[in-house]
Amino acid sequence: MERKPLEKRVFLATPTMHGEEQKYINEAFDTNWVTTVGKNIDEVEKEMAEYLGVKYAVALSSGTGALHLATKLAGEKLYGQAKPNEGVLSGKKVFATDMTFDASINPIAYEDGEAIFIDSEYDTWNTDPQALKKAIEMYPEVKLYVMVHLYGTPGKAEEIKKLCDEHGIIIIEDACESLGARYKLNGEWVETGTLGSYNCISFNGNKIITGSSGGMFLTDSKDDADKVRKWSTQSREAAPWYQHEEVGYNYRMSNIIAGIVRGQFPYLKEHIALKRAIYERYKEGLKDLPVRMNPYDAEKSEPNFWLSCLIIDEDAMCEQVRDDQKALYVHEKGKSCPTEILETLASCNIEGRPIWKPMHLQPIYRNNAFVTVNGNGRGQSNAYIDKGKKLDVGLDIFSRGLCLPSDIKMTAEEQQIVIDVIKSCFE
Ligand SMILES: Cc1ncc(COP(=O)(O)O)c(C=O)c1O
Repeated sequence: MERKPLEKRVFLATPTMHGEEQKYINEAFDTNWVTTVGKNIDEVEKEMAEYLGVKYAVALSSGTGALHLATKLAGEKLYGQAKPNEGVLSGKKVFATDMTFDASINPIAYEDGEAIFIDSEYDTWNTDPQALKKAIEMYPEVKLYVMVHLYGTPGKAEEIKKLCDEHGIIIIEDACESLGARYKLNGEWVETGTLGSYNCISFNGNKIITGSSGGMFLTDSKDDADKVRKWSTQSREAAPWYQHEEVGYNYRMSNIIAGIVRGQFPYLKEHIALKRAIYERYKEGLKDLPVRMNPYDAEKSEPNFWLSCLIIDEDAMCEQVRDDQKALYVHEKGKSCPTEILETLASCNIEGRPIWKPMHLQPIYRNNAFVTVNGNGRGQSNAYIDKGKKLDVGLDIFSRGLCLPSDIKMTAEEQQIVIDVIKSCFE
């Protein structure tokens, strides 16, 4: 059935402002702290550290910047300081989550390291601890791992931490999508953003709370927090002039951005409750279709439900062919595919998104190793046997999954339209 596009676009995830943000911005203007120093920064660092249960939070210009400095710090811990013209991970390999945004793992490349991608699992769509175990057997020299909680759903951190502890592997936690999500670690509830040695969050415009941009580095180590603060403000040494012994960065958060984050912070729990309600409505509304929502472990985790996603059952996938510019599908009653659903949503002025394309499938990382539960994940198809067999979990979720509009300003009525449009794709 042809549907008229909605007059008001339904978005994937946009900022939701409450008013206090403006008050803190005005305060910065009125006191003339329109720079990378000021009360908003001090307050928001203090509040975030207290809320999450870490000793130190360093406010930075982005989650990517936080991940970069976390990666550099871990690299220095492991391999010592590098020359200014060399990355600290030069010649070193790092285990990395495969299904994520490339900002999680690009810092490995900034520091001249080589990411080894670890396949995902179906229970939470995050790193499969069994695949990580395999990777540790294959690459015993690797001492760093970047852990991501995709779409706000905590991964299997307990198994992963145990494995990493046993093998002396440092964890960088990318909690950029999962601020406010909790995880039951060894029987105790803790926040994501506290599970690694170096932890990162983001206040990008589409995140659960935002500063328009911004991020934070979180740690329990005062030395590490001090180092990141120094690096993020151009690495000034203690001298009366600008003197430098290390490469510096301009990564500090602005006091204006910090004002927005400060105004948003009291609404974090409310945003999570609204996101959860969206997830539950999808779950209920789509229950008669051959699809499932992005899964989580209800015993051990409380996601922040940043993005609601669905995955189509294998036997309910219609034919779908996608390349970088075009996608084709064959409509079939009772079946559908991400391309059909995303195109139909778009034709109704509703925004959806493909699942993050796994890193091992990205052209830039085509030569990097990829490890699945079976070991080496590269070159595993065979023209003579098992034609078309499932190769890895990441590729499978990418092929059958999609992100649904999860904007907290979307009304229940608008969401019902989204659900109806999805249903129509299977008719
Ligand atoms: C998983 C993940 N890591 C890192 C980032 C980078 O954060 P930022 O945009 O603040 O640099 C994002 C989002 O943008 C993300 O989704």
